This record gives sequence, C-alpha cells and structure tokens, in this order.
Amino acid sequence: MISHSSFRSHWSIDPAITFLNHGSFGACPIAVQQEQQAWRDRLERDPMRFFVWDYEELLDRSREAMAAFVEADAADLVFVPNATAGVNAVLRSLHVRPGDELLTTSHEYNASRNALDFVAAQAGAIVTVAELPFPIESADQVIEFVLAKVTDKTRLLLIDHVTSQTGLVLPIEPIISKLSAAGIATLVDGAHAPGMLPLNLKKLGATYYTGNAHKWLCAPKSAAFLVVDRAQQSQIRPLAISHGANSLRQDRSRFQLEFDWTGTADPSAVFSIPKAIEYLGSLLPGGWPELMQHNRNLAIAARHLLCDALKISPPCPAAMLGAMAAIPLPDGDCELLYRQLVDRAIQVQLQAWPRSPKRILRISAQLYNQLADYECLATALQILHQSY
Ligand SMILES: Cc1ncc(COP(=O)(O)O)c(C=O)c1O
Repeated sequence: MISHSSFRSHWSIDPAITFLNHGSFGACPIAVQQEQQAWRDRLERDPMRFFVWDYEELLDRSREAMAAFVEADAADLVFVPNATAGVNAVLRSLHVRPGDELLTTSHEYNASRNALDFVAAQAGAIVTVAELPFPIESADQVIEFVLAKVTDKTRLLLIDHVTSQTGLVLPIEPIISKLSAAGIATLVDGAHAPGMLPLNLKKLGATYYTGNAHKWLCAPKSAAFLVVDRAQQSQIRPLAISHGANSLRQDRSRFQLEFDWTGTADPSAVFSIPKAIEYLGSLLPGGWPELMQHNRNLAIAARHLLCDALKISPPCPAAMLGAMAAIPLPDGDCELLYRQLVDRAIQVQLQAWPRSPKRILRISAQLYNQLADYECLATALQILHQSY
C-alpha cells in the first residue's frame, strides 16, 4: 500500500500510481472537476440562454480572473484552447517576409518549433537557433547565446518561459528588454509558467505571451490564454476565422471579438479558471506564493535525492528550476525504460533528447507529491540499473 501526501485526496489520480508527471498534462482537482461539470449542466439545461445571453459575461469573468492572476490587462487577454494554439495563432498571423530571421533556442518545445518552421518555409524566412547547452552552468549563458544570434534581420524571438524537455526557467526578462529596445518582437511560450512561477506580464513586456491554465493552475483541459501587446492586436487573428471578423460591434476590440467566438465549443474549462485559482490558492495558508514555493522546494529536493542515488551531477543550478527538474540519464533505450517504469506504476517524463540514444528524465512536483514518491523512482531506477 503506497502512502500518499495528505493533499492527494484532493485529486482523482489513481492511488496505485506514483505520479511524477504533472508537467505533461496537469491534473485537475476533484473540486474543480465538479465546477466544470456544473458549467456543463448549466449549458445543457438551456443552450440558447447559455451561449446567446450568458456566454460573454461568463467569459469576461474568467478573463478578469486570469488577467489578475498573471498581472496582465484584461483588455489584452483572450482565451485559446492550449498554448500550441496560442503560439500558432501568433506565428500564422505575422506578415513574415522572405529573408526575415525567426530566432528560437535548441530547447524549444517541438510543436512550437514545428509551427515556426512551417511559417518560415511558407514565407521564405529563415529559422535561426541559439544552441543552449545542457548541462548548463548559468542563466547568463542563455542570455549570452540568445543575444549572440540576433542580427539586423531578426524579426521575432520564440522562446519557452519554462523549457519542456529540460525543465529550465529561462531568463526571459532581460532578453525581452534587450530585444524590445532593438524593435524585435518576442513570443513567449509560457505553457508551464502560470501557477508555477509568479508572473507580471505587464512588467515583462513581451509582445506576445501564451500560457496554459490546464497545467500548473490545475484548471480542466483546454484552458489557456494569449496576451498580445495592444499595438499588435489588430494583426493577430485566431486560427478559426468566425463571426468576429465582420462584426459591427464597437463595444470591444476586434481582437477580442474574433478570439471570443471561434465556433461552438465547450467553454466549461475556461469558465472553471476562477474556481481553480481560488481553490488551489486556498490549500496552503500562504496561498499561491506558498504553493509555488512549496512545489519548487520539492522539485529541488527531489532532484538532489535522484542525483545522489544515481550518481549524476545536477545539470543546472537550482536557481534555474521551477516545479520541474530534468536529469540526463546514461545513453540507452528510452522506450524500454519508460515501459519498465510504467510496469512499476511510475509515471514520469522520459524523452530521447536531444536525440536517441541520449535520454532525459524529467520530474514534476505538485502538492499531491512527497519526497517518498521520488525515493520510489530512485529505487526503481537503481534496480533497473543494469538495463538502463
Ligand atoms: C514549452 C511548452 N510549450 C507548449 C506545450 C504544449 O502545451 P499544450 O499541449 O497545452 O498546447 C508544452 C507542453 O508540455 C510545453 O512544455
């Protein structure tokens, strides 16, 4: 019988699983799932009233809550189903010219990189890549390597706030401020950041920032947002063009009219965002700041435990960590090891990165985890040592 953190009962995760991968898809607490169900019930009781009369006011309620949480202006924030859609909406709206350089890093999330490659290929633009080392010595290296790739043709930087495979919190603030000063746009893929890191998007000043509520904010799946600098809003269009494109309404921006309705969809995840913010923020006496600090401390302690057990040097300073940590494993068969861990009911992210046979293990730390979960992973990896 596995003993769990006392907070585990707030989530519906299978008690038989040692769940160390909050990062991939998040996990929604039972109370927030119930909230979502209540929204769905209300929708299905009277769909006409729900969509025609109530929808916009309810969307604005979520928008206000989301904007307050990330310290953005609500007028600049729209909802998208996920960060992938946020990145795509921006990239596919840009008027990229032949020869423009679109800069990113070698740690960029694969899906976002694919979107960048697609847009560049269509426009005859060039994707340039700042190669970031891993293991990495300091956040300053990131700044140095990214800025070294900026040229007078650089049009936009696409950068993860928290990298996916390597779990690094990148120093985006000084990078954005340098690039803004040079008139270069910045698109931040903040898929992991809301609920993992304190955010002040007004102060950050990225041209475009997209983030998920369904990861570390623990909202239901398909709750994410996009914040766009006011001066750029007229050119940024949703992936689906719908009624907003020729609406005669003057009471809100074209940007919001277009993104607020992209065809019939289930808005219950987005409508549950205020509940997720309030509920997660009520679980520890210090609210969200304490929760974020707790998860970060646990990720750092868990990494220490694993690195010690596996005799691997920590691949980055703890200062570069949020609530996830990645550890390079000795070369080998990634899928085989993943299956062996799943056979032991352990869920963790394992990827062939940068490419097979290199392997990288990433742990996540959420309130429902405790150090014993990572001891269980360390023991399994030690037992599997011969084969991994
Ligand atoms: C950096 C980064 N960007 C984007 C995503 C994609 O998120 P979503 O599937 O919600 O679009 C992820 C998912 O893990 C990610 O780590």
